[in-house]
Amino acid sequence: MFGILSFSLFAVPMALGLIHGWSYLLWITILGLLLLAWRKVAFCVASHQKRIDLTGKAVFITGCDTGFGHSLALRLFHLGFTVFATCLFPDGEGAQSLRQEAGTSHCLHVFKLDVTQDQDVADAKDFLLKNLPENGLWGLVNNACLAPFGQLESFEEIKKIIDVNALGSIRTTLKLLPLIKKSQEQYRDVIFLFFLGHLIFMSSISAFIGFGSASYSLSKILLEKFGEHLSAELKKSGVKVSLIEPGNYAPATNILKTHNLEKYWNKFDDDETKASYSKEYLQFFANKVDKILKNGKHDSKEVIDAIIDALVNQEPKRRYLVATFKEKCLVYAFCYLPASLLELFLCSY
Ligand SMILES: NC(=O)c1ccc[n+]([C@@H]2O[C@H](COP(=O)([O-])OP(=O)(O)OC[C@H]3O[C@@H](n4cnc5c(N)ncnc54)[C@H](OP(=O)(O)O)[C@@H]3O)[C@@H](O)[C@H]2O)c1
Repeated sequence: MFGILSFSLFAVPMALGLIHGWSYLLWITILGLLLLAWRKVAFCVASHQKRIDLTGKAVFITGCDTGFGHSLALRLFHLGFTVFATCLFPDGEGAQSLRQEAGTSHCLHVFKLDVTQDQDVADAKDFLLKNLPENGLWGLVNNACLAPFGQLESFEEIKKIIDVNALGSIRTTLKLLPLIKKSQEQYRDVIFLFFLGHLIFMSSISAFIGFGSASYSLSKILLEKFGEHLSAELKKSGVKVSLIEPGNYAPATNILKTHNLEKYWNKFDDDETKASYSKEYLQFFANKVDKILKNGKHDSKEVIDAIIDALVNQEPKRRYLVATFKEKCLVYAFCYLPASLLELFLCSY
């Protein structure tokens, strides 16, 4: 509505300016620009006002050993949240450095969680129950992932990727959701919908783009759909669900692993599978993927900002597509272009 108003306020006098002379047009242009600047300021103020006070609120994050999870844990800790940063390797380098950063503070808890293990998730819940601050659990960020090589994927590997990336997030969510709901109930009468729990799933543009690794894409599609359905289911309870869809940030995290092609090739003991691929093709694919991933962004700040917005905004977006213009075009192309055009594009890729 405001956009249409700004446009007409700008466009109508512009047309008049063209009729009445160029100096008039200059003043009208300045007026129009001032109007747009005011709109931008008004938008920033409004979105700032919708943010919530962070102190004493607890957030649980999976996969904090490295990457986005690790950076997010640190950012939230410094913002005043109580952070439950879970790591696959609680004695690993990532966990140790988080503990070092926490020092003597009781607001950054670092402990083990393998999202594929029911017992780990149950233990994590027990730990939460014993250590949650008064306000309860504010948010859950399902971040842990495994990123596979992407070709010659065996059934066992596909199952593993889906188990970590999708089922791991679902397992953790189902276990911790009652805590998020409970923390809201105690405040509902006092500040009703201003105390909202936030559930966040780390998806990816790979949920939309059909090349690279099928198992990784599949795991992200599952998360997208689970998130959508859960959001509808939780509408009445007030818990907000957001999906973060980053583009290529491989150089900023640990997701880009070097591929041992020889080991990969040799693990297939049936000649039939091997015969249907060639080692040269796999090498060609590996080089291509490495090249694409290395061209990604080196700084994860935009992604962390998006997660924080999803956590602290009273009206978070359902989807945060944090990607370059080219990546956004690719997403829209895969969603809306006819298959024949997409195939042409994939052949040239
Ligand atoms: N980086 C990107 O370009 C990008 C783009 C789109 C979406 N994403 C998404 O962003 C999220 C974070 O990825 P990232 O780039 O930060 O990758 P990352 O650095 O590899 O972080 C993922 C973390 O999850 C841990 N993990 C693996 N298996 C686990 C398990 N079973 N239980 C618990 N933790 C486990 C990993 O530990 P190990 O290191 O020991 O394996 C790692 O610390 C993922 O969901 C990913 O799909 C990333």
